[in-house]
Order: sequence, then C-alpha cells, then structure tokens
Amino acid sequence: MDTPIVEMARISKRFGDLQALAEVDLTVHKGDIHALVGENGAGKTTLMNILYGLYRPDAGTIRVRGTEAHIAGPRDAIALGIGMIHQHFMLVPPLTVAENVVLGDERGGPVLDTRGIEARVAELEKRFGIQAEPRAKIEDVPLGIQQRVEILKVLYRGSEILIFDEPTAVLTPQEVDDLFHIVRTLRDEGKTVILITHKLREVMAVSDHVTVLREGRNAAHLVTKETDPRAIAVAMVGRELRDIRVRPGNVGPAVLEITSLSAESDRGGLALKGVDVEVHAGEVVGIAGVGGNGQSELAQCILGLRKVTGGVIKVGGSDVAHDDPRRTRQRGVAYVPEDRRAEGLVLPFTLADNFILGRQDQPPYARRGILQGRVIRREGERLAKEFDVRPPDPDVEVGTLSGGNQQKVVLGREISESPRLIVANQPTRGLDIAATEYVHERLLEQRSRGCAILLISSELDEILDLSDRIAVMFEGRIVAVLPAAEATEERLGLLMAGHVEGVPA
Ligand SMILES: Nc1ncnc2c1ncn2[C@@H]1O[C@H](COP(=O)(O)OP(=O)(O)OP(=O)(O)O)[C@@H](O)[C@H]1O
Ligand SMILES: [Mg+2]
Repeated sequence: MDTPIVEMARISKRFGDLQALAEVDLTVHKGDIHALVGENGAGKTTLMNILYGLYRPDAGTIRVRGTEAHIAGPRDAIALGIGMIHQHFMLVPPLTVAENVVLGDERGGPVLDTRGIEARVAELEKRFGIQAEPRAKIEDVPLGIQQRVEILKVLYRGSEILIFDEPTAVLTPQEVDDLFHIVRTLRDEGKTVILITHKLREVMAVSDHVTVLREGRNAAHLVTKETDPRAIAVAMVGRELRDIRVRPGNVGPAVLEITSLSAESDRGGLALKGVDVEVHAGEVVGIAGVGGNGQSELAQCILGLRKVTGGVIKVGGSDVAHDDPRRTRQRGVAYVPEDRRAEGLVLPFTLADNFILGRQDQPPYARRGILQGRVIRREGERLAKEFDVRPPDPDVEVGTLSGGNQQKVVLGREISESPRLIVANQPTRGLDIAATEYVHERLLEQRSRGCAILLISSELDEILDLSDRIAVMFEGRIVAVLPAAEATEERLGLLMAGHVEGVPA
C-alpha cells in the first residue's frame, strides 16, 4: 500500500477544561474523497484546524506524504499543499471573482495584472469544471458561486489536499449536486479531498472512506462501499435512531390565514405575488421550495419584519399584516429564524440573556427598570437543562456554543412562551443528527399541544417527515398544496422546479 498523503496520529487538543480531541487518528490516501463525520462538537473542525495550522495540537504527530510536518500556521499548511474552504466565506464583496481568487497570494506582487489573472482563473475553471464568472463582483453572485471562488482560491495556490468544512450547509439542493460534481472532478484530477458533513446521504454519494468522531475520539473508520447509512449513524450518535414520521393528529380551527399576500424583496421587485395558505391548530404545514422563492419573505411578513404591500395575514382571526414584531409576538407567534447567528441570537451575550431575549424589560426579569440578574440566571439555568444545552452554564457566551446548541437556545426560548403559532425557517440547517432529531421532536410536541406550525425547509426529508400538509412555493406563489400522504419526493421535486401539474413540461 502506498504512503498515505496525510497521517494524523494520536492527536489531542484541550480547550481549558474541555478535551476537544483525545488521541485521534486520521489516515487519508491520495486521490480519495475522505468524509469526516460526527455530531456537533465531536471535534471535526478542531482536527482540521490543526491540519491547516490554525491550532497547535497538545500531543500527536502529523505526517504529510510520509514526512513529519510541524504546521505552525496556514502559511506552512499552504506550502505543504493543504487548503481549507471554510464554512463562512472570507471574500471581499466589491471585488470581482478573479480578484478574490488571487487576493492574499504574495506571488501576485503589488500591481494586479487583471488580464493575466483572469486568464489563469479561466484556465483553472476549465480544468476543474468550475464555472464562476471571473469578471462578476462577489456581491452580485449567489452563495453557490461564492463557494466556487473559495475553491478556486485554494486551487490557485497549488493545493493538493482540499479540506471542506460543511460545504453544503448553505447550498440549495441543485447547488449541492453541482458542488459534488466539482468534488469528483477534483478527485479525478488527482486531488485529495477531506469533506466534513453531517449528512449521511452526502457521505454515501461522494466519499470513498469515512472517519467517524464522537466526543473527541475515533468512533469508526469505514470504507463507504462496505457500509451503510445506518451503521454510520450508529457510530456517530452511539445509539439507534428513532423513527418519527408524523402520524395524523387532531386538527383544530385555523390559526394562521393568509390571503393574497404580496411583498417586495430587498432588491426591489415582488418577492411574494399573492400567497394563500392556512395553518390550523395541531397541524404542521410544510413549505417546500428551492431557497429564494419567497419563503424567507413570507416568514418575515408573518412576523412583522417585512412590509406587507397587499393581502391579509390573520392570526387567531385578527389581521396582523401591519403589526410590528413586538405586537405579533404578543399575539403568541414564535419565530425560529433562518439565520440563527444574525437574527435569532445575540452572540456576545450569555446563555441566560439569550433565553429571555425580547422579554428582558418585563417582570420577573426587570422590575422598575432594573434587570434582575439573579432571576435571569436561574431561568437560564432551568431552560438550559430543560432543552439540553451543552454546557448548561447560564454565564457562557452563546457565540462559543456549537451550532446545535445555539439552535436549542433559540428553540427553547420560543417554545417556553407556549406560542399558538410557530414559524420555523430552516430549523435544522447545519445541525447534526441528534440535534435535528431533538428539534423535530420538540416541534411535534408543540403540534400535539395544539400549536400551529409553519415549517419552511429546503430539506425534503424534513418536510416529508414532519408535515400534515405540504405547500410548494415557486417564484413568490404557492403552486400546490398536498396532503402529506399524497406527496412523494419526486412529485415535490418537479413542483419545486416549476412544473405545473396537469400541464405537460
Ligand atoms: N477556540 C475554542 N475555544 C474553546 N472551545 C472550543 C474552541 N473551538 C472548539 N471548541 C470546543 O471544542 C469542541 C469541538 O468543537 P468543533 O468545533 O471541533 O466541533 P465540530 O465537530 O466541528 O462541531 P460542529 O458540527 O458543530 O461544527 C466543542 O465542544 C467546542 O465547543
Ligand atoms: Mg465544525
């Protein structure tokens, strides 16, 4: 067998009291797509940050192409041909694609030779089948293209080993397919890819080998062809998964009634062009659709966060279309926003403060204008335990929690107010299997309690598992509403792509 291109052996890393990695091994062969999987907080990013030189390990050795490497920073990693595509892109919006690709590469010199750069970028695009419009400005291209720019940037520096940290979390299903096509081309061109992901379907679809981490330790090394999603899931979670497909429940009166709703998008033009939808008490209505077809604007209108230009939104019979967010919340509407880091949480605040966000000026949290620190801490501690936030420390800064734990804080806060309507937009994006299962169970619990739930998701599995009825959104309209029993992935997929039923394509 040939020498592995990367061999990390007995890597340990501690952050304060937390043993993030304990004697972890990772062996990657050249020309492989190697999946690195594990639940939120398992240590995946930490291990890759060590390989990329962002952290130093406390113990352990790294060999690259058989030679021991001391990687003191990204510069050393890049010199060894290691490149990392981070989850949060690091691009400069007013510059072009080509300019961003070469940015930070010292070989360029102080004067940008625009023509030469565009030609080199075009050459890379051709070789690896990556289309990214070299002359377009970053601010004008969608996330899927921005990610390709990050890939080109890494390739431009001559990387042979490409690390992707959860690259699909921000992508639409179509963009995911395109990315995997690129990843396979990279492999076929002799590159080595390390892919961090939570999604078993993705592991099965593209990887050759799988390393599973659990709580900072190796849980399994598997050959993808010789394993199955269940075995990987069990290694990740440490137990069998539950089957939660929703059973018909008791549906009550309409809680949310939307008629002919229209609203503008941020870029001008209509985002919503006459939306009609109803959600009843004890019912989950799933909104399926490719991201960007008006789903987020719909959620924002219901919450009073976006101006309604026409139509009616009724909650419990009263028109709320022109209410501000505060009044809407007082009517019992809870919101799990798409971007929890920007909209759902105040990252530098503590866990306890985030749990009472929006109620901090009301008793018992404030009395005569004075914040009741002790009451807030105690409530934070109680909710952290109830919603299984780790660590359950009311004083911890929310920004330091893992994605799954951050989402538990948002969900916990929203549910603890016993809402009559929950609008949940991509509630499990970026979450691991256990956290996803947790969020689903909590939502279904609310449904059993008689809460109405509007679930917006681009994950068809999630829509199919949780919904009583499914509405498909396309270009600012609801183009079909189906009972869950009549919905299949294929039928939904066609509707999502704009095929109208009964009309030949
Ligand atoms: N800079 C840091 N300081 C303190 N703790 C950290 C730091 N970076 C990571 N951790 C902790 O180390 C553990 C492993 O984190 P890591 O980010 O590697 O997990 P992960 O597997 O990438 O999870 P996710 O799927 O949520 O991205 C977590 O408990 C995390 O809170
Ligand atoms: Mg991570």
